[in-house]
Amino acid sequence: MSYETITIESAEGVGIVTLNRPKVLNALSPQLLAELIDAVTEFDRDPQVRCIALLGSDKAFAAGADIGSMADASPIDMMRSNDFARIERLRELSTPIVAGVSGYALGGGCELAMACDLIIASETAQFGQPEINLGIIPGAGGTQRLTRAVGKALAMDLVLTGRMLSAIEARNAGIVARITAPEAWRDETLAVCRTIATKSPIALQVARDAINAAFETTLTQGIEFERRAFHVLFASDDQKEGMSAFLEKRRPAFTGS
Ligand code: CAA
Repeated sequence: MSYETITIESAEGVGIVTLNRPKVLNALSPQLLAELIDAVTEFDRDPQVRCIALLGSDKAFAAGADIGSMADASPIDMMRSNDFARIERLRELSTPIVAGVSGYALGGGCELAMACDLIIASETAQFGQPEINLGIIPGAGGTQRLTRAVGKALAMDLVLTGRMLSAIEARNAGIVARITAPEAWRDETLAVCRTIATKSPIALQVARDAINAAFETTLTQGIEFERRAFHVLFASDDQKEGMSAFLEKRRPAFTGS
């Protein structure tokens, strides 16, 4: 399938989706969201792809929802199209997804990055939920994922004032996993993806489910979920392979079975 608002490529087990609306700082139009979800779903179905990288440009990961396409919308238009609900699809993927952020990650762009499993950011990255400046609030999980990631105090600060967080502040607050030099964000993101792509796909999937369960359950339920998932992995060929490889002092070759 050919896309107009994103580009895709794959190499070494990594499916790469690059947002590509440079004139509007990768603003998330309905078309871009549809193409993005189509592309990650296709990568998720491809057994050769073991990790997905979601990238923007040096200047912007994404500067938010496309304001031009929403400005005259009615509540019914917004409800019918429900475009930002598509972002929740990222949670359902079996394949890990890593956001590489340089420049602006604002509004829906920040929400999109936070919906990925982890974020690698350039020193130039700026994160924010500036919807308040437009007379609206975040509409793609911002009040929920941001609050879970950074706590009430900082979430209120960002959402009520619309101010931006630097990469260092975002890492200290728990939004960002790693920060890179400005020229290294893409390579570092792909290197992280290649590392993840060498691991057992089944263990990766279970690990993501267990970490995500921490946001949905009590501690006791979460620990129980983890223990059961840990036990079940002993039914996988990858557990036998991983432990045999360690004992035989060789690299494991995981198959996802
Ligand atoms: N939607 C549509 N177009 C956008 C855009 C957006 N979110 N963000 C930037 N653009 C466009 C600008 O209109 C401009 O287009 P023209 O060249 O045709 O004038 C172009 O991208 C470049 O932008 P600027 O000239 O403004 O660039 P800058 O470097 O001076 O400023 C910026 C960059 C601070 C990111 C500024 O563009 C900005 O504030 N953008 C809007 C950010 C925003 O409010 N995001 C939230 C959107 S609502 C949302 O996301 C809801 C939700 O939760 C789902």
